[in-house]
Amino acid sequence: MNTVSMTDLEAIRERHSVRHYKEEKIGSEKISILNELIDSLNKEGDLHLQLIEDAGNTYNKLLNKAMGLGSAPSVIACVGKDDATLEERVGYYGQKLVLMAQKLGLNTCWAGTFNKKNIGAEVKDGERLVISIAIGYGKDFGKPHKSKSAEQVSEASGTAPEWFSKGIEMALLAPTAINQQKFLIRLGQDEKVEYIDKGGPFSKVDIGIVRCHFEIGSGRPQAPAKCD
Ligand SMILES: Cc1cc2nc3c(=O)[nH]c(=O)nc-3n(C[C@H](O)[C@H](O)[C@H](O)COP(=O)(O)O)c2cc1C
Repeated sequence: MNTVSMTDLEAIRERHSVRHYKEEKIGSEKISILNELIDSLNKEGDLHLQLIEDAGNTYNKLLNKAMGLGSAPSVIACVGKDDATLEERVGYYGQKLVLMAQKLGLNTCWAGTFNKKNIGAEVKDGERLVISIAIGYGKDFGKPHKSKSAEQVSEASGTAPEWFSKGIEMALLAPTAINQQKFLIRLGQDEKVEYIDKGGPFSKVDIGIVRCHFEIGSGRPQAPAKCD
């Protein structure tokens, strides 16, 4: 697929977690595109996302080695101003970056298991390092995950409008920690969409990722709240 013409919807459909990477580096042109996007997402989301070209020993934990992530050449450190909304903001804006990577022909994997000491991220006063995203050229493209049904993750009184169903379809393609899909999207009064976190590891990050996909599917963007 031509990377320039790939839409967000196509990127969502093509993206799967990739855990085995080639040694090939990302290359300066794509690094610049990613860094430009990172700058704007950081401003919009009050974040300090950082693309670290040399992942070094970020993925040297036993679990990483078992899953293959140790081969990732580069990593995105998801850091931001620490408040009650941080994890959801990281998920929402981080996933925009993941979709851009997909459009650029790169592969990714969100990873909650990584070596926080080795990642080499800058974490300023009042900030917190939440999670990492492995990035590079995959040896494979990953594969579709097993998924819950639309009925299991959504609620609408009466017949759901088409935009809502399209949003749910894309939300079900979102990556979630251990593929838990522990979220509920409810269509309330006045077409208000509510995202309900049903718990589990990194479930708040999941909610941000899911919200990003739902908005692309439904065509109704509404960025997550920030604390004052
Ligand atoms: C918040 C979050 C944390 C994750 N942590 C890890 C991890 O530590 N190690 C790993 O191999 N995969 C991790 N994943 C990837 C999930 O296992 C994967 O997204 C899920 O199985 C769905 O598969 P898919 O991404 O191919 O659609 C994580 C995903 C998310 C969203």
